[in-house]
Amino acid sequence: MRIHPARSFRGRFHLPGDKSISHRAAILGAMAEGETRIHNFASAADCASTLGCLRALGVEVEREGTEVRVRGHGLEAWRAPAGPLDAGNSGSTLRMLAGALAGRPFPSVLTGDDSLRRRPVERVAVPLRLMGARVASTGGNPPLTIEGGGLRPLAYDSPVASAQVKTAVLLAGLQAEGLTTVREPAPSRDHTAVERAGLAVSVRGVARLRAAEVTVPGDASSAAFPVVAALILPGSEVRLDGVLLSPGRSAFLGVLKAMGAQVETGLTSTDPEPVGWIAARSSRLRGVTVDPAVVPALIDEVPALAVAAAFAEGTFTVSGAGELRVKESDRIAALAEALARMGGSVEERPDGLSVHGGRPLRGAAVRSRGDHRIAMAFAVAALAAEGPTDIEEAECASVSFPEFYELLARGAGGG
Ligand code: S3P
Repeated sequence: MRIHPARSFRGRFHLPGDKSISHRAAILGAMAEGETRIHNFASAADCASTLGCLRALGVEVEREGTEVRVRGHGLEAWRAPAGPLDAGNSGSTLRMLAGALAGRPFPSVLTGDDSLRRRPVERVAVPLRLMGARVASTGGNPPLTIEGGGLRPLAYDSPVASAQVKTAVLLAGLQAEGLTTVREPAPSRDHTAVERAGLAVSVRGVARLRAAEVTVPGDASSAAFPVVAALILPGSEVRLDGVLLSPGRSAFLGVLKAMGAQVETGLTSTDPEPVGWIAARSSRLRGVTVDPAVVPALIDEVPALAVAAAFAEGTFTVSGAGELRVKESDRIAALAEALARMGGSVEERPDGLSVHGGRPLRGAAVRSRGDHRIAMAFAVAALAAEGPTDIEEAECASVSFPEFYELLARGAGGG
């Protein structure tokens, strides 16, 4: 896709429903008894993968645009799938469903696309085995074969700060008699927990879940792209309404503020999670060093932050972010390569990168590596570059944000 430079980026937008919350609402609804109605369900292709897997498990799911109804009859009603469950590109679908399936007394196989089949799954297999499930990965990657049932509770110290691992263990814990606790090395996103104490979250099983009505707020991670577009282009201003603003998801706004960004937020509701608006204007940015302790809370926003950094004076450094190497692509390598192609100055390290900003970027041919967040980050960079940019496999943005290029075109003022 060819992206031309823009003079400014302006507009007021509503973002599609949050991907992380949509996955969880659908899975929990399928585990519950009764009809769970989900409003503003994510348009992300990843969340459609979750619905597809739930249907393959015999759960009745109806969808009309952004309205989803899940008719649950409890986990006992889940049936052995006729074939492998296809999570597509979605690590969240595969890892979280592994937790739910660990308690089911039938065999299942979880797999996905080429990218997902290269991603690590032992991080969920290890705790689920400790709980008594039989789980086999394929050399550490999907396909993942699960023969579940008869789970015992677990107190688990997770070596990685991962919300997917945390949720998988909690979903298994709901099916084990007693208290299951997950402790993580640093706080990751938190949309599922019922009891928490510091870095530990717990559930008590065996639990019967009831259906609920859920309204999904706008996706916090998708918000990062229009926010950065407004910050790096002159004469720009965006306002995003109805966005999830929980601390585990909005930490990138704190980093942007430390960089000198003119960003404001306001809350419109706080129950069950903070939701509100974000306003951002063209700003003079400076590089900062990101505290490794907040990295898990902004892990998906590093591509957008790295683009902001390229337009900031001085050096931006992120470390303790080795997880980026095992996302939909090796995001550290993908960012370093694409920024360098556009004339940026980047140093790549095993667990992060430094961006020496302040030099103009020029349009170039960049590889998204089929990774939605890399494609979107460089589409934003392209708006502020000199000359057009060609983004390879740009359509992969639909994995999380199918409306992205439409929003970009609406906000971009003529170049
Ligand atoms: C997610 C957790 C994060 C994140 C992913 C979504 C979730 O992954 O990168 O996009 O919804 O739980 P990890 O759990 O691997 O950190």
